[in-house]
Amino acid sequence: MAAALAQRIAQAADLVTVALDELLPRADGPEARLTEAMRYAALGPGKRLRPFFALETGRLFDLPERSVLRAACALECVHAYSLVHDDLPCMDDDDLRRGRPTVHKAYDEATAVLAGDALLTVAFEIMADHDTHHSGDIRADLVRLLAVASGARGMVGGQMIDLLGVRDDLGAVARMQRMKTGALIACAFELPLAMARPKDAERHALLAFGRDIGLAYQIVDDVLDAEGDVESLGKAAGGKDAALGKTNFVTLLGVDAAKDRIAHLVTQTKAHLDLFGDRGQFLRSAVDFVLERKT
Ligand code: IPE
Ligand code: IPE
Ligand code: MG
Ligand code: MG
Ligand code: MG
Repeated sequence: MAAALAQRIAQAADLVTVALDELLPRADGPEARLTEAMRYAALGPGKRLRPFFALETGRLFDLPERSVLRAACALECVHAYSLVHDDLPCMDDDDLRRGRPTVHKAYDEATAVLAGDALLTVAFEIMADHDTHHSGDIRADLVRLLAVASGARGMVGGQMIDLLGVRDDLGAVARMQRMKTGALIACAFELPLAMARPKDAERHALLAFGRDIGLAYQIVDDVLDAEGDVESLGKAAGGKDAALGKTNFVTLLGVDAAKDRIAHLVTQTKAHLDLFGDRGQFLRSAVDFVLERKT
């Protein structure tokens, strides 16, 4: 199963990178600096976890791959933009991302702000296009879901709380993590669900799965910040979050308690898929694979 899973994740990543390469704009004029920075940010060696989840959910309901892939690319553009802005000196001030200089280092800060802006807007251009889905109602739904997950009630709201810091309130930390990271990961499930429109029970189960794995994923990220190495992560580590005064499960509770919480979330996340029986086996085994990451 592990080998098959690794292969499916790698295949999804390739599919998404090729599709993004086609979908992202190119330019000849002076604005080429912007489109190059967008491509640098989005086509770099990301894990493509969100698109993988979207494609797997699409498979579960036999959705046309082309539609799900386009929606997954739109979501990945928002994710890429969130990283470009997250790395800026006014936010986490990071020099390294995906093993390469961050966009503001490779270009400059103003270009990084604009490349982030343009990745966010191109996401909605892709999503709203007729090629993404023949039904205008479903396209409107997809656009709305991505907007909610990305904005003040989702990723951007969570980033605000992250910057402000929360005091020793674990509930508030979990809420921040669910917003800044969980919302876009859960969106990977919501988008294909909006196309498949399955029974309520199946929809709720997959949404709960997405929400819990999203939270667990960010706690793993915080553990890796404390314990991982720059070389394998391709981004800052060595306790950078603690040094910046960030509040998360690791800085509040320590690494061991954070790992206990991840273990608890793993069991809870998998249990959401019980009603899918064998059909859910692939996604269930993806939980361990994704959370045991070192990169
Ligand atoms: C990094 O996301 C930021 C978090 C939300 C934890 P990923 O770990 O998915 O980063 P890439 O896309 O693989 O670089
Ligand atoms: C980022 O969280 C979440 C985003 C919405 C971009 P982090 O700041 O911990 O992500 P990394 O560690 O820089 O990838
Ligand atoms: Mg951050
Ligand atoms: Mg960061
Ligand atoms: Mg981090």
